[in-house]
Amino acid sequence: MFDYMLIHRKLLLLLFIVQLGICLNFDRSAIFSGSQTVDDGITVASGVEAGFEAFELVTINGDISIADSGQLCVGQYGVSGNSIDITSGTLINNGNMFLSDWTDNTVSLTGENFYNYGTFGISSSATHITFLFSTNLVNDGNMFIWNNDAHTEFEGPESGAINNGVITFDLCPPQIPSFLGSGCIRLKYADYMSIDVSSPFNQTLNVINPFTPKLNFTGSPLPNNNIVLRGFETDYPWQFITDYYPEATDVELFSYTYNNITGILNYMAPGSTYTFDIGTGFNESTIDLGTPGMILVGPLTVKQEAPTNCPANPYDNTNGIFPCDDFFPIPSATTKIAPYYQDSITEIISYYSTIASDRLPTTVAITTYYIPSINVPPVYTTTFRYAATTFTEVISYYTAPGTYMGLTNLPFIRTTSSKLTVFPSPYATTLTTDSMTVSGVVSFYISSDISKSFTASTTSFFTETKNVTTTVTEYPMGTIYPTSWFSKLINGTSTTTYSTSIETYVVKTHS
Ligand SMILES: *[C@@H]1O[C@H](CO)[C@@H](O)[C@H](O)[C@H]1NC(C)=O
Ligand SMILES: *[C@@H]1O[C@H](CO)[C@@H](O)[C@H](O)[C@H]1NC(C)=O
Ligand SMILES: *[C@@H]1O[C@H](CO)[C@@H](O)[C@H](O)[C@H]1NC(C)=O
Ligand SMILES: *[C@@H]1O[C@H](CO)[C@@H](O)[C@H](O)[C@H]1NC(C)=O
Ligand SMILES: *[C@@H]1O[C@H](CO)[C@@H](O)[C@H](O)[C@H]1NC(C)=O
Ligand SMILES: *[C@@H]1O[C@H](CO)[C@@H](O)[C@H](O)[C@H]1NC(C)=O
Repeated sequence: MFDYMLIHRKLLLLLFIVQLGICLNFDRSAIFSGSQTVDDGITVASGVEAGFEAFELVTINGDISIADSGQLCVGQYGVSGNSIDITSGTLINNGNMFLSDWTDNTVSLTGENFYNYGTFGISSSATHITFLFSTNLVNDGNMFIWNNDAHTEFEGPESGAINNGVITFDLCPPQIPSFLGSGCIRLKYADYMSIDVSSPFNQTLNVINPFTPKLNFTGSPLPNNNIVLRGFETDYPWQFITDYYPEATDVELFSYTYNNITGILNYMAPGSTYTFDIGTGFNESTIDLGTPGMILVGPLTVKQEAPTNCPANPYDNTNGIFPCDDFFPIPSATTKIAPYYQDSITEIISYYSTIASDRLPTTVAITTYYIPSINVPPVYTTTFRYAATTFTEVISYYTAPGTYMGLTNLPFIRTTSSKLTVFPSPYATTLTTDSMTVSGVVSFYISSDISKSFTASTTSFFTETKNVTTTVTEYPMGTIYPTSWFSKLINGTSTTTYSTSIETYVVKTHS
């Protein structure tokens, strides 16, 4: 009886955007789900959130450009993705760029030119992070490289990377490249980390305790290097290592000077002098050169403040603050039920992701209706009497389209009724008018106007009884010259009135 189903489908969200660029342009926020390969670079427009999630491998080749307040996320903090492989000729980040991989795979970001003016981050438990730019590596913003597993390869151009902003290494890489610029490198949770000071090095290294890294300064130190070391605490000594001296050298051949006004420590090894700006406040008797090549600086009585060029990055919090968890989920289906005759209509709106003409994923909503068929009742008749008349009413049903629940052509039951009169029999009548009696037949018929049909009657006078009586008011002067006349029919009696300027004549014709 309620035989289902009529299914209507509607595509609510179809985007047709003209594709002009040659690369993947995120001109609107969109998140790709699953493994992807992009071979022609990426742009992210201002204010746009672009992302890749739930993949095994995302490969991006080509230039990457992220506008101010744009955001590109590849992977999510703490969510097991797999590998990320990005090879970019030139990568310019004016907004936010975050790479995250949370399994024992690899994150690789390599290319020629890297410019970060915004916030850049890698968070990973990967067995290997490769960050390698061969021509320019410039940071004027905030960068953090957080590798839970310490296996980070971070390399810049031979001429030196330039950092005027802040770079945080959390679990430091085994080695950092030559760095110039007025910025700061914040070091968290490191063991040994080597820095080649035979290349130009001009940078603040700020250690975030409690674990002080063992810094290993390698190569023949250039005299103009400016190595600023900060982050000394009151409860930990700090050890740093130099390795550029002949092997098996006598401890007595190493010496230092410390200027407690400038905070400069000079360390003299056979054949080389290392200069470190360690800051003021150290008790010289706690500086220990007991092992060749090794300097141990004792704790301070007052903890060093972080230098002004070393502010904390709001995104490098290891407790999990990472801005890429703001992904748009596909909404779950919604169901709406509304009554419809003997049954009900069910509307289900479900969503899925598809790729639109602008190459970006979009969420499409499908609306499905389950509409029961309806029973149209059969025609029926009923009779009733009113004012001595018997009426027959015929009630019939039909369907007409109506709008309901967003459906414009849903059938609705409509009624039509027509009254049929059982006519009284015609009857004869007489009437008297102007003292004359005429006979006629009254009969009934169906008539209608624009609003309804009704029973009308008509009276036919018998022509055979037609009789004419002419009443003439004597005309005193002979011929009449009527100036007007007026004629009317009253129940079959025709009256014509002639008027002259003098008097009126009435000619009455009976029919
Ligand atoms: C070296 O560092 C100082 C202090 O941060 C800065 O003022 C200067 O510009 C830097 N020079 C170079 C060549 O990086
Ligand atoms: C310091 O670095 C050099 C060069 O990488 C390495 O040979 C040496 O073993 C390192 N020293 C320590 C104590 O790690
Ligand atoms: C600073 O150095 C000078 C010269 O070596 C020395 O006389 C002075 O005691 C030192 N001050 C402190 C607080 O160590
Ligand atoms: C420096 O350290 C030595 C040895 O620990 C101590 O005897 C001396 O009082 C300290 N000097 C200052 C100025 O704190
Ligand atoms: C017309 O009326 C006159 C007078 O009343 C009557 O004599 C005559 O029979 C009538 N003619 C007809 C056809 O009824
Ligand atoms: C004759 O005319 C009168 C007055 O106009 C009206 O009341 C009456 O119903 C009419 N008779 C018929 C049979 O039409």
